[in-house]
Amino acid sequence: MQAVIDKADDINYPAKDIIKHIFYGISDWGENILNIKWEQEWNKIYKDQGEVQFDVLPTVRVAADVFKKNDCMNIMDLGCGTGRHSIYLAQQGFKVYATDISLQGLEITKSKAEKLKLSNIEFKQHDMRSIPFENDSLDGILCVWTTGHGMLEGSRENVNEIFRILKPNGVVVIDYVSIDDENYGKGQEIEKDTFINNVEGEENIPHHYFSMDELKELYSSFLKVNITPIDYFFVDNQGDKHTIKAFVIIGIK
Ligand SMILES: C[S@@+](CC[C@H](N)C(=O)[O-])C[C@H]1O[C@@H](n2cnc3c(N)ncnc32)[C@H](O)[C@@H]1O
Repeated sequence: MQAVIDKADDINYPAKDIIKHIFYGISDWGENILNIKWEQEWNKIYKDQGEVQFDVLPTVRVAADVFKKNDCMNIMDLGCGTGRHSIYLAQQGFKVYATDISLQGLEITKSKAEKLKLSNIEFKQHDMRSIPFENDSLDGILCVWTTGHGMLEGSRENVNEIFRILKPNGVVVIDYVSIDDENYGKGQEIEKDTFINNVEGEENIPHHYFSMDELKELYSSFLKVNITPIDYFFVDNQGDKHTIKAFVIIGIK
C-alpha cells in the first residue's frame, strides 16, 4: 500500500474550526501516583455521570479523512471512553475496535452501538501500555484525549505498542498535552516535565507535558510523522473556560 498522508502536511486547526466542548470536572482522583487505579476512577466517572463527552473532535474528522486516504479500514479507537468516536468511525464505514481500560465506558459504548444497530464494532478491555493484539494487525489507530495522564515511561510503552500492532504503512492519529499548557509548571515536578498536584480535581495524578522535540524522539521509528500544535477549548462544569494546548501527531509506520 502506498503511504499517503494527505492533509497531514498542511493540517492546521484555526480557532474558528475548533468546536467548544463541554468538559467535565474530574474529582477525587486517586491512590498514590505509582499505583493509579485508572479503571476504578474512569468506571466511577462513567457510573456517576454516564456519557460525559459528546461532540466529535475536529481532530477525529481529520483522522477519518486521513484513514480513508491511506486505505486504512480497520481502526482501533484506543481509550474509546463512552464511544463518541468509535460510533462516528463505525458510521463512516470503518471496522472499529473500541478499547479502553474502563469496562463501564465500554459497556456504554456497546449499548450505544446496539441501539444504532452497528455491527462493525468490537470491544476489548485493556491497558494502552500493554495491548493484546498481534504484531502488524491494524491499519489505523486513533487515540485522543487519553495520553494526558501518567509519566513519560508509560507514554513510551504506549508508543512502542502502537508501533508493534500497526501494519507497515499503518497510520496513528494521537494527541498529547503540550509544555505550553496552562497547567505546566504548577504543583510538584516529579520528573522532567511531569507534575502532580497541578490540575484541580486530579491532584494525585501525574501529568506529563510534551515538547515537539520529545515527540519527535518518541516517534522516531515511524516512517513519516507530522506534529501539529492545536488548541482544544472547553467549559468546565463550573462554567469556566479553558484551553488545552496540545499536539496532534499523524504517524505512518
Ligand atoms: C478523557 S477520556 C477520552 C475518551 C475518548 N477518547 C473520547 O475522546 O471521548 C480518557 C479515556 O482514557 C481511558 N484510559 C486512561 N488510561 C488508560 C490506559 N492506561 N489504558 C487504556 N485506556 C485508558 C479512560 O478509561 C478514559 O475512557
